[in-house]
Amino acid sequence: MTDNTARNLEYDLPDLQAYWMPFTGNRYFKKDPRLIARAKGAYVWTHDGKKVLDSIAGLWCCNAGHCHPKIVEAIQKQAAVLDYATAFQLSHPKVFELANKLTDIAPDGFDYAFFVNSGSEAVDTALKMALAYHRIRGDGARTRLIGREKGYHGVGFGGISVGGISPNRKMFGAMLPGVDHLPHTHNVEKNAFTRGLPEWGVHLADELENIVALHDPSTIAAVIVEPIAGSAGVILPPQGYLQRLREICDEHGILLIFDEVITAFGRTGDKFAATRMGVTPDLITTAKGLTSGTVPMGAVLAKGEIYDTFMTGPEGAIEFFHGYTYSGHPLAAAAACATLDVYEEEGLYERALSMESYLEDGLHSLKGEPYVIDVRNYGMIGAVEMQAIDDQPTARAVQLFRHCFDNGVSVRTTGDTAAFSPPLIIENKQIDQIIETVRGALRAI
Ligand SMILES: Cc1ncc(COP(=O)(O)O)c(C=O)c1O
Repeated sequence: MTDNTARNLEYDLPDLQAYWMPFTGNRYFKKDPRLIARAKGAYVWTHDGKKVLDSIAGLWCCNAGHCHPKIVEAIQKQAAVLDYATAFQLSHPKVFELANKLTDIAPDGFDYAFFVNSGSEAVDTALKMALAYHRIRGDGARTRLIGREKGYHGVGFGGISVGGISPNRKMFGAMLPGVDHLPHTHNVEKNAFTRGLPEWGVHLADELENIVALHDPSTIAAVIVEPIAGSAGVILPPQGYLQRLREICDEHGILLIFDEVITAFGRTGDKFAATRMGVTPDLITTAKGLTSGTVPMGAVLAKGEIYDTFMTGPEGAIEFFHGYTYSGHPLAAAAACATLDVYEEEGLYERALSMESYLEDGLHSLKGEPYVIDVRNYGMIGAVEMQAIDDQPTARAVQLFRHCFDNGVSVRTTGDTAAFSPPLIIENKQIDQIIETVRGALRAI
C-alpha cells in the first residue's frame, strides 16, 4: 500500500451551493470553506494542502488514526467480495464474526450485539428495546424514558426527546411523550480544574428518586445517560454518581442505558467506560470508534437477560420489529472486525490509559492562561472551558478554533469549551503541539 503522506494535493474547489451541510452555518462556511482532502495517522490535509493535527479524531471516532492500512485493506477486500446482503431473514458471515468479536470485549454479560448505522440509530434502537422488553414481560405500563439535561443522544426523535440540548430540540415540536430529565452534573464553581472525576455532585443522582416518586416507578422504562457527556462540552460524572443511578434503577426495576457512542473503544482508557468506571448498565449504545470512523456503523449491546426475554414467542416469528436496510452492512462489518483487531494488536486500550496522565498534565498547564475558567479530563478526553464574551456566547471559542486551525491544529468547540479527543495513536510530542497551539491561541485571541 502506498503512503500518501508525502503528496501535497491541491483540489480545485467544486461549486459549494448544492450541498446542505449538517450542523453547520452553511452561508458562513461557503464563504470561507475548510475542506479536508485526505488524512493519515493523526493528521489531515485541507484541499489547499495545509497539514493539520487532528486533536479530536475526526469527531471522536478515528481512534486508530486515519487511513490505517489494515482497516483500509479490509474494506477494499470486502467491497470486492460482497457489496451487500439483505439484513432481514438473510445475512452474511462477516457480521456474525463481528458480533462475536464485539461481545468478547464487551463488559461481562453483554452477549448480544444488534447492528445499526450511527449513534442516533443505536440510541433509538436501545430505547425501543427497553420499551418492548417491559411490554413482553407484561409490564407494558413502563413507557416513560428519563434522559438528562445537556445530554446528547443523536438527532432521531428518540434521541432528541431524551437529550437535553435546547437548540437540538426546540424546532421539532412535542417529540416523544412521557420523557423526563435528570439535572446535569456540570458545575464550574464546585469542580473547576479537577483532575479526573470530580468529588462534588454525587447527590445529583438522587434526583432520580424524585422523578421516580413523581411518575411512579411502574411507569418508567429506562434511564439513559452518557457516562461522559461529550457534545455538551465534556461533562464528567461525579465520583459515585453512575453507581448511584445503577442502585436506584435496580431498586425500581428500571433499565439503565449507557450511551457509549464516544466513550467506547479506548477513549476512557479502557474498552468501555462501563468497565473503567465499574458500573454495569443493561444496554450499551456504541458507534464511531467501532469502525474507527471509516464506515458508518453503530451497535446496541444487550445483556443476555434482555435478549432472552425477546426470544419467547413462537419460533419462526420475528421477535423484534426493528432494523435497517444497512444493519450490519458487509463493508462496515469488515471495517469493524479489522478495527477491533487493530485496537488489540497495537495495544491501543492500554496505550490510551498510559497516555492519560501526559494529556492531563498538558491540559492543566493551561490553567492561568487568559479566559480559562476550567480544565477537565478523563482517559483520552479533555476540555478547556473559557469565559464567554459578554452577550456573545460561543464567540470566544470560534476565535480559538480559527486560530488553532490556522496554526495547524483542529480542535472541537461547543459553547465556549474546546474539547479534545485525539486518536489513540497520538504521541507525546503531538500532545505538546496541541497544548502549545491552544496556549498560543488563548494569548492571541
Ligand atoms: C453520546 C452520543 N450519542 C449519540 C450520538 C449520535 O451519533 P451519530 O452522529 O453517529 O448519529 C453522538 C454523536 O456525537 C454522541 O456523542
